[in-house]
Amino acid sequence: MPQMGLGTSGLTGKACVDAVAAWLRLGGRYVDTALLYGNQREVGEGIRQSGVPREDVFLCTKVAFFPADSDASTWMFRDRGGAANLKGGEEASLDLCLEELGVGYVDLLLVHSPCTSAAEYRAASAPHFFELSRLHGKAGAVPEALPDGTLLRPLVLTHQRAAAAQAARAEGRGPVEALAAVEATWRALERCKASGKARHVGVSNFPAELLEAMAEFPAPAAYPAVNQLEMHPRFASPRLRAVASQRGCVLIGYGLNHALQILAQGGGSGGEVVASVARRCGGTPTQVLLAWLRTKGAVSIPRSRDPAHMSENLAALDLDLSAGDVAALDALDADHPHYWMPQATVDAISLAPSPACGLWPV
Ligand SMILES: NC(=O)c1ccc[n+]([C@@H]2O[C@H](COP(=O)([O-])OP(=O)(O)OC[C@H]3O[C@@H](n4cnc5c(N)ncnc54)[C@H](OP(=O)(O)O)[C@@H]3O)[C@@H](O)[C@H]2O)c1
Repeated sequence: MPQMGLGTSGLTGKACVDAVAAWLRLGGRYVDTALLYGNQREVGEGIRQSGVPREDVFLCTKVAFFPADSDASTWMFRDRGGAANLKGGEEASLDLCLEELGVGYVDLLLVHSPCTSAAEYRAASAPHFFELSRLHGKAGAVPEALPDGTLLRPLVLTHQRAAAAQAARAEGRGPVEALAAVEATWRALERCKASGKARHVGVSNFPAELLEAMAEFPAPAAYPAVNQLEMHPRFASPRLRAVASQRGCVLIGYGLNHALQILAQGGGSGGEVVASVARRCGGTPTQVLLAWLRTKGAVSIPRSRDPAHMSENLAALDLDLSAGDVAALDALDADHPHYWMPQATVDAISLAPSPACGLWPV
């Protein structure tokens, strides 16, 4: 697959059509979308307007975002057409994607989320409401700390994990049920592949532990070709990279530019580390992070509506970092996700949630 794709979440209307067409005209060949993004008609139109033949484009979409027990109270369910994107409806969801995109097949189809219950999803999504929400000035963004300096993020994340564990206990759901739900979704994607409507199938936001568990699914399970997930120096996931590499699963990293903006705003040393690497290697900070991702063997999907940024991003494919610069960036790892918290899924598939969780009343 191509080393870099165009991310399209948040791109809608003419801006999306124009961005996709510009990307393909600039030589990009991979476009990433999802049923959740609500922009597949525009992505399809952008491909057609680019003049690049469909068969030369590597087109990825994603289904099975919402757990089967989601309802109107589940974050994004009402606004993002949740009923068409439920686990259990994968094959119908793919048919809808193909109709919206106006194509006969996709090159890559992903399970958009590993979450198997609304409670797990609630816990897993918690990081979104901190730095990312503040960056985008969203209503409901959680402040960093109480007036006395107590940090809120670790408190909320721990509480949400404990609440998910308690909900699972109350509903009699254990790791066996969670893994069975993941397997049911995966079998549906295998059927999508067998039908020829998806050339390759993979997953998104799956933690290392779940990738390992999937290797134990009874034959004839195929193994995920890719895992698309948040990856940047602050959330570098070394264990997951080792497991994926051992299994031949390609990683696709997202969230680089948001991480860069959060690092820059944080006022810590991270933004300065990236800036100094950029000065040394003659690239921009975005190019540095794209090149760093490549050193991890991962594919990137920066989102942009700006053709100048797209060209800058594509040029990063030729930027090489020194071993010293890679080490300086590696040292920023804080196991700190901005989007999804993998531990919520690890809890769901493990026999015992982390002891720390059990200490929290919910
Ligand atoms: N699987 C999942 O659950 C999941 C979750 C999140 C994202 N994704 C995928 O990953 C893609 C990328 O992640 P993301 O959307 O979170 O955002 P991102 O790529 O980290 O950041 C997007 C922002 O970066 C800016 N940008 C892009 N290139 C730039 C450059 N060279 N210099 C300066 N700014 C630049 C863009 O602004 P301009 O438009 O002005 O260039 C945009 O505001 C998404 O679009 C989506 O396809 C998947």
